[in-house]
Amino acid sequence: MKVNFAEFELPRAGAVVVGVWEEGVLTAPARLVDEASGGAVGRALAASPRFRGKRNELIPIPGPANLAASRIVLAGLGKPDEIDGRHLENLGGTLVAHLNGAGETEATVALDIGDAGGLAAGAAAAHLAFGAALRAYRFDKYRTTEKPERKPTLAALTLAGPGADAAEHAYKDFAAAAEAVAFTRDLVSEPANTLYPETLADAAAGLSSLGLLVEVIDEEGIRALGMNAILGVAQGSVRPPRLVVMRWNGGDADAAPLAFIGKGVTFDTGGISIKPAAGMGEMKWDMAGAGVVIGLMRLLATRSAKINAVGVVGLVENMPSGSAMRPGDIVTSMSGQTIEVLNTDAEGRLVLADALWYCQDRFKPALMVDLATLTGAIIVALGHDHAGLFANDDTLAERLVAAGKAVGEKLWRLPLDDAYNKAIDSEAADVKNIAGDRAAGSIIGAEFVQRFVNKVPWAHLDIAGVAWSKKDAPTVPKGATAFGVRLLDRFVAEYYEKG
Ligand code: BES
Ligand code: MN
Ligand code: ZN
Repeated sequence: MKVNFAEFELPRAGAVVVGVWEEGVLTAPARLVDEASGGAVGRALAASPRFRGKRNELIPIPGPANLAASRIVLAGLGKPDEIDGRHLENLGGTLVAHLNGAGETEATVALDIGDAGGLAAGAAAAHLAFGAALRAYRFDKYRTTEKPERKPTLAALTLAGPGADAAEHAYKDFAAAAEAVAFTRDLVSEPANTLYPETLADAAAGLSSLGLLVEVIDEEGIRALGMNAILGVAQGSVRPPRLVVMRWNGGDADAAPLAFIGKGVTFDTGGISIKPAAGMGEMKWDMAGAGVVIGLMRLLATRSAKINAVGVVGLVENMPSGSAMRPGDIVTSMSGQTIEVLNTDAEGRLVLADALWYCQDRFKPALMVDLATLTGAIIVALGHDHAGLFANDDTLAERLVAAGKAVGEKLWRLPLDDAYNKAIDSEAADVKNIAGDRAAGSIIGAEFVQRFVNKVPWAHLDIAGVAWSKKDAPTVPKGATAFGVRLLDRFVAEYYEKG
């Protein structure tokens, strides 16, 4: 779908979308379209007693008289003082779904919300276009027999109104973000027969053309570094592990980097502690944390972020086999701590243990944020609406929560406490990878990870409940969400790039 910005004129083809405030108050373009169509807008409103002009409410008016446009769509805007960027993104996404459902190939959106919401000139159109681009994403490369009537039709979206140049300029960073989100969604959607540690590492390495420094550490290198926790997870698979380090240096040469670490389990069978068959296919997206880190690094590079950042992703496939780890095995992590692996399905924390240790050891980062589809228990606790947040630093936690709220990727903080940490003391080693029971499963996972974090501000995002969606949302079609890319981009921009 191509996005354009232009001054408003009545379109010669396609749909024309105009805004209606709450209680049916028409915006200027809506009045213009009403007059040009001999009152079609007024009649449609009169005939739609349920339409209140609330956010995201739509009335289609196909085949209006006197207009070249194929249809008018009235779009509810809500109250002028409540409008904001997020709302406009949701409206853009809702419109794309609606227009595709109607089979429209092109559309002109003329909102003209004036200075409502205190948005800068052009910002409203840019937000709307961003939401549209996010919703237009599809993973359809493997669909060879899809019926034409099921395919999306909308090929061009024009945002029309005053300030088109400003909108086009404002849209540049949004377009970069939409591309990064699509890149991550592609990685997360890709099945495990084609996406495995080597191919995921290749995808990351391909981003070096954007100015990222990308290093791929192979199995030998991982062994040389003493990362036996990662190797332990990988040893049951014929696919060798990879550790990928991505650096973006857009800040002062001597500034400590912000570090982002991702769990990249390209498929999680559970290993010898094998998972039940039902739903196991979902475990192709157990690399979502890594996918988000790679997409974030891509975005920081494409928008030339004025900070130094490092992304570290640990890539493994967790398989049962004659060479797989056994429950009870003890491995020595890079940190020197020994880990008793009592459940081979608690593998993500083993990957993070070595990846986090390596990251802080080598880069002395200003802070570390890890992302991982770590526990099923976080779905029990929070469902699919919030990711779990754990942090050893209140400021870091507050910033992440605020950034998440701003972009609509919500976080909920859960506690870390020595009282939980004791549960992973091992009889046979320094630490064990599961506690004795199912209590506080996500906190236990976070406590395990924290054992590999020194005195550096650190946060852990358990994204198991939000990395994949079974239903459409305004800016997130069902499937891979890329939850975290926009959140962390906002986090970086808001707190580390200003001034
Ligand atoms: N990848 C899973 C967690 C997961 C579950 C992600 C459902 C997405 C949806 C993780 O590796 C795992 O298996 N965790 C175990 C931990 C347990 C053995 C302590 C779990 O949650 O059951
Ligand atoms: Mn697992
Ligand atoms: Zn896993």
